[in-house]
Amino acid sequence: MSQGRLAGKIAIVTGSSSGIGQGIALRFASEGANVVIDFRSHPDAAEQTRARAEAFGVKAIVVHADVSKIADTQNLVEQAYTQLGGCDILVNNAGVEKNAAFFDVTEEDYDMVLDVNLKGVFFITQAFVKRLRDAKQPGSVINISSVHEDMVFPNFSTYCASKGGIRMLMRDLAVELGPLNIRVNNIAPGAIDTPINTALLADKPKLDALLRNIPLGRMGKPEDVAALALFLASGDGAYVTGSTFFVDGGLIRNYHEQ
Ligand code: BGC
Repeated sequence: MSQGRLAGKIAIVTGSSSGIGQGIALRFASEGANVVIDFRSHPDAAEQTRARAEAFGVKAIVVHADVSKIADTQNLVEQAYTQLGGCDILVNNAGVEKNAAFFDVTEEDYDMVLDVNLKGVFFITQAFVKRLRDAKQPGSVINISSVHEDMVFPNFSTYCASKGGIRMLMRDLAVELGPLNIRVNNIAPGAIDTPINTALLADKPKLDALLRNIPLGRMGKPEDVAALALFLASGDGAYVTGSTFFVDGGLIRNYHEQ
């Protein structure tokens, strides 16, 4: 029997073959949770993440799901039940962004970003909480949104629309699901060193300008986000619902246009 702050719990982390999702899945595993590693495009990375999670002595499974497809999200929840025996924690981490001036945004861009970042979160959460309701079990939903659920991000209007949507979805569900003891919160990361920021990390002037806006003077790490996710997933967060928590080195208090 595993030990730790999440001993015996089962967690789904979407988009967990890399970046913030991988950091969360590994931190949860290190605290005794059995984890579902979801990937869309990188099976090898997902498999490596699974092996690293299992090194903590827990069970980890890999499931392929494109969260923009409702059937895939339902299957992800289904696999947690059939292969691991249930699910207590859902981390909606999978996300995409597209850099495009508002005038240039295509319907395809819009659908890609909104379908993954908002529609996907909406329907996997629905599948997850239906199971909890039917089993009369409590649960924790953690959405990885962004500072841009609240802060402007010129040329990323689709991303901002999706993250703003997640902010209100979280607030609404916290109220609707509170009576079932299902808690819903957002973590809003700032600039974290992950694959979503590959272009930024390769552009030194842009990166330096961003770092000047971050009071703590550095990019965040997936582990910085995972520490808060652990708090919200564990009993320590038992009275916390309906809130957004920023993990951004102070960026949201100090944004300047370049
Ligand atoms: C975005 C990054 C951006 C960061 C800070 C994140 O949500 O994914 O592209 O650098 O916010 O603006």
